[in-house]
Amino acid sequence: MKNLLSASELSRDDIVRILDTANEMSGVNDREIKKLPTLRGKTVVNLFFEDSTRTRISFEVAAKRLSADVINFAAKGSSVSKGESLKDTAQTLEAMGADAVVIRHYASGAAHTLAHSGWINGAIVNAGDGTHEHPTQALLDAYTLRESVHGHAALGKGLDGLRVAIVGDIAHSRVARSNLTMLQALGAEVHLIAPATLLPGALASRASSFSYSLDESIACHHFDAIMMLRVQSERMSASFFPSEREYSKIWGLNAERLSRLGENTRVMHPGPMNRGLEIDATSADSKNSLVLRQVANGVSVRMAVLYELMAGGAQ
Ligand code: CP
Repeated sequence: MKNLLSASELSRDDIVRILDTANEMSGVNDREIKKLPTLRGKTVVNLFFEDSTRTRISFEVAAKRLSADVINFAAKGSSVSKGESLKDTAQTLEAMGADAVVIRHYASGAAHTLAHSGWINGAIVNAGDGTHEHPTQALLDAYTLRESVHGHAALGKGLDGLRVAIVGDIAHSRVARSNLTMLQALGAEVHLIAPATLLPGALASRASSFSYSLDESIACHHFDAIMMLRVQSERMSASFFPSEREYSKIWGLNAERLSRLGENTRVMHPGPMNRGLEIDATSADSKNSLVLRQVANGVSVRMAVLYELMAGGAQ
């Protein structure tokens, strides 16, 4: 693998191999000295044109645990704010010897543009491009589900037959797009639930089922996991639902809905959470919640991705 741009470019075998490598990396993260020499002498650039907490920090931690040098580049405070183009920024990084560039950009397709431009020779990792894709989030979500279902016997396994509901602002969610593809590649059923205005037909037609009613879906299906999505107000140029109060009442996960889900239904959220909007505190902090496991596993999964791309995990 030269780059990681989208979930759709990974076969089931690719995904399972990366999850198995992440499993090995998690052993390093449990050690007193959390370091491997694998990427010594290599440089990873985190090129972030959009805000991030989890993804940027976990890529930085992952690269450092593999002994790479890390350069953190945020568009705010850089020459991008003086009008410098993506091309000139990329060529500057190339001149400084970047072996891999982890890019987050507000424009869908930015990671593909960088990968196919010839401006950079190193590996390109898509850390979220507009509303398009966030493949490492889908990998860490799959890893977290696999760990929760199979525990120590997870190696080599997929998510066959698992029923996963993805709920909320699907239209603006790169997490939903990458997860739909990746969870299905691993054999899971994916059910999409959203207000009609936030559920694109092209995605609904690919799901095992789709619904505009969370309550009806909970009554009709047993979900092994429910993945709540952030309402991405910053990407909305119009009103997609009447009010935040009504959104949380109709589509939000709360203690009452949680009690109607299965006793073992896992609660997931990619973060950052709008507590009180798409998820309430009882659900986010419940014993069923995997939210903090998702964050912790992000480091192991991103170590596996950097290993795969920079140390020739698989050619
Ligand atoms: N899930 C996710 O991408 O979070 P950040 O925006 O904090 O990186």
